[in-house]
Order: sequence, then C-alpha cells, then structure tokens
Amino acid sequence: MMDVRIGLLGLGTVGAGVVKILESRRAMLEERAGCRLAIASVADTDLTRPREGVNLTTLPMTSDAARVLDDPTISIVIELIGGIEPARTFILRALAAGKHVVTANKALLAHHGAELYEEARRRGVTLGFEAAVAGGIPLIQAVKEGLVANRILSVFGIVNGTSNYILSKMTDEGIDFSVALEEAQARGYAEADPTLDVEGMDSAHKLQILVTLAFRTFIDVKDIHTEGITRVTQQDIGYARELGYRVKLLAIAKASNGGVEVRVHPTMIPAASPLAAVSGVFNAVFIAGDAVGDLMFYGRGAGQMPTASAIWADVLDVARRIAHDVPALALELPSAGPGALPLAPMDAIRSCYYLRVMAQDRPGVLSRVAGILGDNDISIANLIQKGRGTREAVPVVMMTHEAREHDMRRALAAIDRLPDVAAATTMIRVEGGPA
Ligand code: HSE
Repeated sequence: MMDVRIGLLGLGTVGAGVVKILESRRAMLEERAGCRLAIASVADTDLTRPREGVNLTTLPMTSDAARVLDDPTISIVIELIGGIEPARTFILRALAAGKHVVTANKALLAHHGAELYEEARRRGVTLGFEAAVAGGIPLIQAVKEGLVANRILSVFGIVNGTSNYILSKMTDEGIDFSVALEEAQARGYAEADPTLDVEGMDSAHKLQILVTLAFRTFIDVKDIHTEGITRVTQQDIGYARELGYRVKLLAIAKASNGGVEVRVHPTMIPAASPLAAVSGVFNAVFIAGDAVGDLMFYGRGAGQMPTASAIWADVLDVARRIAHDVPALALELPSAGPGALPLAPMDAIRSCYYLRVMAQDRPGVLSRVAGILGDNDISIANLIQKGRGTREAVPVVMMTHEAREHDMRRALAAIDRLPDVAAATTMIRVEGGPA
C-alpha cells in the first residue's frame, strides 16, 4: 500500500477531532482508502496549549505553515484556520503546488469560492468542503452527486448550530441569550467571532455555498438579506408559542418568478412542523427537487467530532483517488451553469408576517393600524391584545395572511409614524403560516 501524506493547518477544536479520528480508527480508514494515511505536519501558532484527547508530543507540530505548504511529499492539505486571511493565501499556495485541499472554511468559500474553485480546476486538483456546511451532515455530497438529475426548487433550513442552540434554550428553558451563547461557545459550536453566528452571517455563508451548488449561480454574499437572532426576545418567543409557532433562524433559497430568493432571518414556523422539533446544535435542511420531490437532512451541525467526520469524508475520497491513480475532475468543482438564475429582490418576496405593535390603549388605535395594513393590501389573520395600559403602551400582536415584502415595509413605516405607537414595531416572517 502507498503512503498518502497529509498536512494540517490549524489545530483547534476541529483539527484535534481530525487527529483523534485517525488515531482511533486508522485501520478502518486505511482499508477504506486503500492506502496508508500519515499526518506529516501540523501547523498552528500555538504549539503548547493542551488539546483534550490529543498527545501533542507525538504530533509533527510546527509554527511555520510553509512546512506544510512547501513539503513536496504532502499531497493533501486540510485547512482549519478559518477566516479569510491567511487561509485564502495558504489555500491558493497549496493548490498552486498541486496539492488537494480540504477545508471547513465557509466564510472563505462564500467570499472567494469562485476564485478558489477556478484555481483548483486550473491545477487539476480537488477542493473538498463537505465540512463547511451543516457540520456532520453529508449535505454537499448529496447536493453535488445525489441530486444531479434534479432541478432544485428550494433549499431551506437551520444551518447554524449556535443560533439554534441559543433559540432552543431561550424557548425551552427560558434561559437568557447571553448565558446560552456562553454555553454554545464552551461546547465549541460558535465561531471565533460569535457575532458571525448570532448576526446570521455564518448561515448566509453556508447558504451562499448551497445556492452555488443547488442553483449553479454565484450570489455575492453581501447581497443576501441577513438578519440574526439578537433582537429575538422572550416576549416574541412567548407570543409565537401562544399562536402555535416556534422561532428559528432559517436560511432560505427558493426559485421564484425567474429568479432565486436568498435570505436568512428569524422565522416563525408551525410548532407541529418537523423543523420546529430540531433543537440544540442540530441542523436540518429541506431540499425540493423536481424529480426527487422533498428531502430532509438532519444531524449535528457543529462540534468537534461531527465536523471532523465530514473532513475525513473528503480526505478519504481524495486519498482513495491518489492511491488508485484517478485524476481529479474539473467538472466536480462548482461553477455557474447555463441560464443561472439571478438573485430576486427582497422587496418582491411574499410571506406571512408576525407583528408586535407597541401602542397606547386608546379608542381607535387598532382601527388605524388595521387601516394602514388594509391600505397596503395586507390582511390580518389573527390578533391578540394583552392587558390594558392607561399610561404604558401595550403589545398588539398580529399574524397576517401572505403579503408582499414591499407592502409590509411601507405599512410598517406608516404604523411607526402613528402618534399612538410607542416603539418600533417588531416584525418576524412566518413560513408555513396562515397563507
Ligand atoms: N459556528 C458554526 C455553527 C459551526 O454554530 O453552526 C459550524 O459551522
């Protein structure tokens, strides 16, 4: 059996998981790859911080990434540094040197994927990124290979474990946002900069990658409408429950009217829907294809071992090809397809909406709010008013039928200008709502 030598850039949570998987099941992996697997070099800026379950003294550690990138005996580089630079430069160097690259770096692929895929294509090597989206769920493989016979109609779901963990804790245990975030960080789910998780950017990065594969179009990540969970309150979670809904951070891409709508935002979904039951760090993605129909993928979307499992899926695939002299195919890398759909403007989407208007409890207020909604072609499906405030504003909670985003924004601006309305109205989009 030949040796396939692997270099690792970044020994953090996932990197340590990659090492642990090889050490604990080497014989099985080597038998499946048909070659011996050797971690030839591990580069990290911190050579001494203990990594649980990893014996650093037995690892070929270096603080110099060039030891990985310039070693001609290394044929696969695993990039687990995260972020844009120096990860981008390192990957480009590895590809230029004819090395295959496996990465979990969703931010990098979302911003510079087109450049990196093109470079891999030019150099005749593979760029694997199964671990970049939905942690341990083999979703990339499924979209790239398993659904190749389909035109994809929609891809949507929960793709950020940290936000889902926080929302689940807030909903089920009444725990504060900040406490739940600290727990997610301690469990190794959160990004180095957790604002990427809670402001929705991590979901947008993953959605950009999924859209590239599913719709064969490169959307600029800056153009994805992105809202995070930082403004979701216990109050709105409570009203959602009362109305029979749960709040989830959803990433949504749908083919509609000759375009593709791509958005990330907190969303109310019916409590009885399968997505509502997806709790904690779990991710779930629904895909509709025109031949296959509806599919649901479910599993751990973050964490050391699930993500390392996805890394090994790619590494083994590449190692097997190297061992059996099967060249990388340019066709396997993402590219824009003929007739790629343009991004649909956010204003054009249609949705049901949850609104919480903070209004003075005076005669006529409700009719003024309802009048504005009616004037903007928005019909109310459900309404709750709690308490009676003679001095303080009280929440008036409404669920609308399906309406156009453009109309909703115009209506909200007018509602918030009413003298009886005391604070900016909270709006949460609803999927699977009253139609
Ligand atoms: N921070 C990410 C999450 C890690 O919480 O889902 C996995 O990509």
